[in-house]
Amino acid sequence: MSQDVPAVEAVNLVKSFGGVRALQGASLAAAAGEVHALVGENGAGKSTVIKALGGRVQPDGGEIRIGGRQVRLPAPPTAHALGAWTVFQELTLLPGMTVAENLLLAREPRTRLGLVDRRRLAANAESVLAGLGVHHIDPRALVEDIPLAERQMVEIVRAISHDPRILFLDEPTSSLVEREVVWLFGQIRRLRAKGACIVFTSHRWNEIRSIADRITVFRGGRDVGCFTELSEEDAVTLMTGQRVETFFPPLPAAPRAADHRPALEVRNLAAPRLRPVSFAVAPGEVLGIGGLAGHGHRELFLALFGAGRATGGQVLLDGKPVRLRNPREAERAGIALVPEDRKSEGLLLPMSVRDNLSLALLRRLSRAGLLRRGLERQMAGGEVQRLKVRTASLAAPVGTLSGGNQQKVLLGRWLLTDPRVLLLYDVTRGVDVATKHEIFELMMRLAGEGRAILFYSSDAEELAHLGHRVLVMREGRMAAELRAPGITAEHVVSAAVRDAA
Ligand SMILES: Nc1ncnc2c1ncn2[C@@H]1O[C@H](COP(=O)(O)OP(=O)(O)OP(=O)(O)O)[C@@H](O)[C@H]1O
Ligand SMILES: [Mg+2]
Repeated sequence: MSQDVPAVEAVNLVKSFGGVRALQGASLAAAAGEVHALVGENGAGKSTVIKALGGRVQPDGGEIRIGGRQVRLPAPPTAHALGAWTVFQELTLLPGMTVAENLLLAREPRTRLGLVDRRRLAANAESVLAGLGVHHIDPRALVEDIPLAERQMVEIVRAISHDPRILFLDEPTSSLVEREVVWLFGQIRRLRAKGACIVFTSHRWNEIRSIADRITVFRGGRDVGCFTELSEEDAVTLMTGQRVETFFPPLPAAPRAADHRPALEVRNLAAPRLRPVSFAVAPGEVLGIGGLAGHGHRELFLALFGAGRATGGQVLLDGKPVRLRNPREAERAGIALVPEDRKSEGLLLPMSVRDNLSLALLRRLSRAGLLRRGLERQMAGGEVQRLKVRTASLAAPVGTLSGGNQQKVLLGRWLLTDPRVLLLYDVTRGVDVATKHEIFELMMRLAGEGRAILFYSSDAEELAHLGHRVLVMREGRMAAELRAPGITAEHVVSAAVRDAA
């Protein structure tokens, strides 16, 4: 393949879904030996272009070229035959099958009688995984039983194991934690060194900066530029058409603990992987929780939402002890949890935006005896406007929304329950910069209204700028308490990794 012929090209692609014009003349060209980032707001058309290049969606117009030759990709196998493999944003593994079956689908080892050789299947899968440096995933496990991050890794391993010449990764890091991202970037660099072409999407600028050779920006279904150097600020301007002035909104004045009874108080709360922890959050306070994956923050959030097993301790809301044996009790007490993982928790994709939004409301709305459809529509509509959810209508299935817009529906759903304490668990994953900004402003507004907010983020920058205080967890306990103003991402990270001497 000649150096100046792109490995893969989309030329003026056009695609509509019903009335939604997802692509309106979208072009993209990526070279062999290059890591090419595709960035843009939620709904800009990134996934649609990747699906078209992977043979999963048929464009209404435009051209696709691979190695300089125009191709038609009626289905993924046609793309595979040309050396192009895709990791789609929404996972495609079959949940009822094992990891090994998914990994080696259509290339299973056979016995002499032509049956699938189960023993060799698992062994082969294990060596595929190990060959790519993955040792902690059991090839015999059912996909539905393994955590989302592992599913994402299986999906990536499956694509990479075909030794692709062209690899599309649509938000591959949105369900991974730090160590796995390092692993993935190692694999991407290795493939690039072998001359592969890698196209990936991400909403995290530090990832783009660290690995992309070039960046194509999408806006409203078309490309608006391709760059080798681009600052985050300029990227945001190109993506949104506006200058986002201050990325992090100012914190409302810190409530003085002495003036209030805490909205939430946790005394010696213990759970598996969680040593007894104690802390309090005042009304109007934003408390950040930091720490690396596996150091207890997840267990803390789940225990507070009644979804994890607390083995001891006490939780008080407005000074009154509450029992949180299940999420319903937590919800009734006034605690809402917005989880990060919209793919397997929370969102019912075939259901409409309106039905999803009103799920958490059912109890409130049906109190009068029957579900009040009009009120429901009004509240759902208000929330869609407040969060600027991009959807064709309230009746559209959530599954047809772009990833970031699905995330907003999830957030809106819990806001409708009017919680006293809001637990936000890495809610900005997969959310574009402009939407992140809106979510941050919403957080500040909710704090200003006197709600208590406890939030975890895998992005230390967010913790540093958005918390009145940040508690950093290490090995299941609170290792450090940082106080605004003056918290930096470096403070948060170094408190999280400092050796427990
Ligand atoms: N199957 C579908 N049915 C209806 N509309 C769709 C479908 N797939 C995509 N869309 C719409 O097409 C537009 C582009 O969506 P796409 O998923 O390509 O965005 P994206 O850039 O990948 O966004 P994100 O960053 O949120 O993943 C959106 O308005 C989306 O709602
Ligand atoms: Mg997408």
